[in-house]
Amino acid sequence: MSTALITGASHGIGRAIAQQLADGWNIVAVARSQSELEALAHDISARGGRCRALALDITDHAAVSRALSSLDVDVLVNNAGIGIIKPVAEMSVEEWRTQVALNLDAMFYVTRALLPGMLARKRGHIVNIGSLTGRNPIVGGACYSGTKHAVVGFTESLMLEVRDAGVRVSLIMPGSVDTGFAGHGKGAPWKLTPETVGRAVRYVLEQTDEALISRVELRPARVESSK
Ligand SMILES: NC(=O)c1ccc[n+]([C@@H]2O[C@H](COP(=O)([O-])OP(=O)(O)OC[C@H]3O[C@@H](n4cnc5c(N)ncnc54)[C@H](OP(=O)(O)O)[C@@H]3O)[C@@H](O)[C@H]2O)c1
Repeated sequence: MSTALITGASHGIGRAIAQQLADGWNIVAVARSQSELEALAHDISARGGRCRALALDITDHAAVSRALSSLDVDVLVNNAGIGIIKPVAEMSVEEWRTQVALNLDAMFYVTRALLPGMLARKRGHIVNIGSLTGRNPIVGGACYSGTKHAVVGFTESLMLEVRDAGVRVSLIMPGSVDTGFAGHGKGAPWKLTPETVGRAVRYVLEQTDEALISRVELRPARVESSK
């Protein structure tokens, strides 16, 4: 069976992606929280799948290179991300760096570690989880939306760079997902569920060989009225 590595798999969207893919791929689940990853691996093996829990801070370039460079991975889902929604005048340098380090730099580190193997095998699929804020600016999103705009440029440039070498690259841009992300509480019925994003990833991966879904914009069917 092929292998899919998912970053940010300990909870939220990444966990749901791992669960959606677990009957078609052996999963390598990456995040910092060993205990949450082990709970996911236990869940997946109870349903007959295979999941390796790999605790790793993906903003640590040397650690990523050590842990991932020798892995043969067919599918990489770059999902881990953080959202600190704040006016620029109030954002600290540390908050800025934390977002850029995870949302952008770490996506490069993980891709850089796994892409050479895909190119050597002439097959692979990289799915990057962007955001609709990578297209539509939002108030307080100068940094977050900025990183997600950069994810669009990174992903679509990479797609053009490697598609003739047998590696497919796709971008999924969700709207609001009910994970408690960016300090929003959980439980909003109008938001997308993490499982819906997981199904979208699966759909993108299951296309026939001649087809590449390069971009998906996935938004809630209706938006909660603020009135
Ligand atoms: N929720 C939304 O409304 C929404 C909308 C559009 C796009 N997105 C995007 O979807 C992705 C996932 O969002 P989410 O809502 O699922 O977020 P989440 O619930 O906060 O989960 C984030 C994941 O990233 C992991 N992570 C954080 N820092 C890490 C690090 N340094 N190294 C490795 N893993 C790290 C976390 O695990 P640990 O803490 O265990 O490391 C967790 O598994 C993000 O890229 C986000 O921008 C979310």
